[in-house]
Amino acid sequence: MKLIFLGPPGAGKGTLAVRASEILNVLQISTGSIFRAAVTAESPLGLKVKAIMDAGKLVDDETTIALVKERLAMDDVQKGYILDGFPRTIPQAQALAEFSAVDKVVNFDIPDANVIERLSGRRVCRKCGYNFHVIFNKTSKEGICDRCGGEVYIRDDDKPEAIKKRLEVYREQTAPLIEYYRKKGLLLDIDARPLIDEMEVIFKKAIGV
Ligand code: AP5
Ligand code: MG
Ligand code: ZN
Repeated sequence: MKLIFLGPPGAGKGTLAVRASEILNVLQISTGSIFRAAVTAESPLGLKVKAIMDAGKLVDDETTIALVKERLAMDDVQKGYILDGFPRTIPQAQALAEFSAVDKVVNFDIPDANVIERLSGRRVCRKCGYNFHVIFNKTSKEGICDRCGGEVYIRDDDKPEAIKKRLEVYREQTAPLIEYYRKKGLLLDIDARPLIDEMEVIFKKAIGV
């Protein structure tokens, strides 16, 4: 199955994508995680995108599309994938349609207040990228990832100013994708407010597995 997870920052796309990829036995492709890995590695891509990401703005379409096109050409995603955080603009969606046909677009419906609560308490594993939360998804040992023992940290774009900017960018550039995919008959709306275990049940019901 080829899925897109669409929704505002902090909606829980990445968290549900980890579980959904295990349920469906497909890989999660997160453009945000790929960019963060490039920043950590201080690669040319990382040096180019760091300031943009820290400010909560979008990386340019050309760079992002080229990255995803190359990733989706690999063998390990031919039977399916979950695109988490791509496309985020109409030009990205149009480009994607030229190189891959998705089955469904899961739209995470959630108010800003929940998003702000989730992002302000997020802690991310430096090693495996898993998303914890100081209230909703705690690590058993403070500061240490339960999955891999890595160190957990606060993302640079989870500061209040960057969160505000990301919500603005979402509304201006990404939200128009909801109608774009609805018109194509691909959209599945899900209420993204419930807690993580319930989200898994909601997701399975929505896609019929
Ligand atoms: P990206 O990494 O994609 O960030 P984002 O869209 O802002 O989304 P987040 O990762 O912040 O949120 P999420 O929905 O994954 O929520 P999560 O599961 O972590 O992108 C980062 C940056 O990279 C962009 O700003 C841009 O610069 C660049 N970029 C990436 N893709 C791009 C593209 N296509 N084009 C251009 N630029 C691009 O959950 C959040 C928190 O809530 C966690 O703490 C989690 O534990 C908790 N939580 C999750 N689910 C629940 C739940 N059900 N109940 C309670 N708490 C929950
Ligand atoms: Mg994410
Ligand atoms: Zn980890």
